[in-house]
Amino acid sequence: MKKNILITGGAGFIGSHVVRLFVNKYPDYNIINLDKLTYAGNLENLKDIEDKPNYKFIKADICDFDTILKIFQEENLDGVIHLAAESHVDRSIKDPFTFAQTNVLGTLSLLQAAKETWKDNYDNKMFYHISTDEVYGELEFDGSLFTETTSYDPHSPYSASKAASDHFVRAFHDTYGLPIIITNCSNNYGPYQFPEKLIPLFINNIVNKKPLPVYGKGENVRDWLYVVDHARAIDIIYHKGRVAETYNIGGFNEWKNIDLIKVMIKTVDKILGNKEGESLNLIQFVTDRAGHDLRYAIDSTKLKNELGWEPSLQFEEGIELTVRWYLENQEWMKNITSGEYEKYYESMYK
Ligand code: NAD
Ligand code: TYD
Repeated sequence: MKKNILITGGAGFIGSHVVRLFVNKYPDYNIINLDKLTYAGNLENLKDIEDKPNYKFIKADICDFDTILKIFQEENLDGVIHLAAESHVDRSIKDPFTFAQTNVLGTLSLLQAAKETWKDNYDNKMFYHISTDEVYGELEFDGSLFTETTSYDPHSPYSASKAASDHFVRAFHDTYGLPIIITNCSNNYGPYQFPEKLIPLFINNIVNKKPLPVYGKGENVRDWLYVVDHARAIDIIYHKGRVAETYNIGGFNEWKNIDLIKVMIKTVDKILGNKEGESLNLIQFVTDRAGHDLRYAIDSTKLKNELGWEPSLQFEEGIELTVRWYLENQEWMKNITSGEYEKYYESMYK
């Protein structure tokens, strides 16, 4: 069946993988990528599909309600997959207002436009909101996992803004009947991730023999999922998920930061032909992130049981693919790490 789907934030890390998957897999759909192209948005991420007839890019700000409403009406949208957001915890600590603006008010603007446009007939319409496991707060090192019924308990301005956006999405279902789905996913890794996040930052620093700033003692735990597996989950949930449900998406793949960093060092050193462990001396323990959540870990059993999704890649495979991709795409890295990035990065460690 033909569908017109708006994907917001499609020029970012995860969004670009979702756009690529939908454009290639569904030639009958029209995929409209709406992105403001902030520092994190990069159309280079979509070079391979930009000329496809079922793909269109619109540069716009999700907070600009009039423009968003016009797009909903002109494009005759059937669905939205909403990924556009400010996404980096460290930036949210420095500038929480931008996070409230984009993540809360921007989401509200999309919800209102969807409701206004679809209110007379919600049949076959879908507002799919992409969120994070960070809304649940932090876990102890006690083996427990976040499930769909874990209470919200966000700690950073980033996670607070995502939690607020989730609440608005649910409120639009409960109040106006808008058909919605929310998914909360664990940490993603893979190609095209902006190098302020741990994995691409550290790969780039190892290659350039720059220090690796490990926050605190490196004991915090994250659950890592290969980004293409997240995009696959989004595809399945968009098409087969139950309206008004939350699904958790995770890798069942917990790593203590310092152990993960050692795996990255080993992999990069091996591929570059360096002596084993040569880059270990780049590790520098620095002041911990304020409010640094101890551990995130997702239980995605509901998604597996209901819709049959599971991660397809083993972590060792995924991290090797990722390291190789960044090493083979140093031009991409150079283009985004010039200019403003340098200034931002230096300001982080002042
Ligand atoms: P990203 O920072 O790489 O990309 C965000 C994109 O949104 C960029 O292209 C940016 O230009 C765009 N954008 C920002 N503000 C906008 C605005 N006002 N209007 C229109 N576009 C705007 O983020 P990501 O890591 O790809 O994350 C995508 C989504 O997935 C976010 O909602 C994030 O909260 C969620 N998420 C991310 C992770 C992760 O590990 N990266 C995990 C779980 C959930
Ligand atoms: P990050 O990639 O920023 O994702 P999130 O904070 O959303 O989980 O960070 C992943 C983990 O790595 C987190 O525990 C913070 C830590 N970290 C560092 O130790 N040093 C760094 O330079 C960065 C960016 C992150």
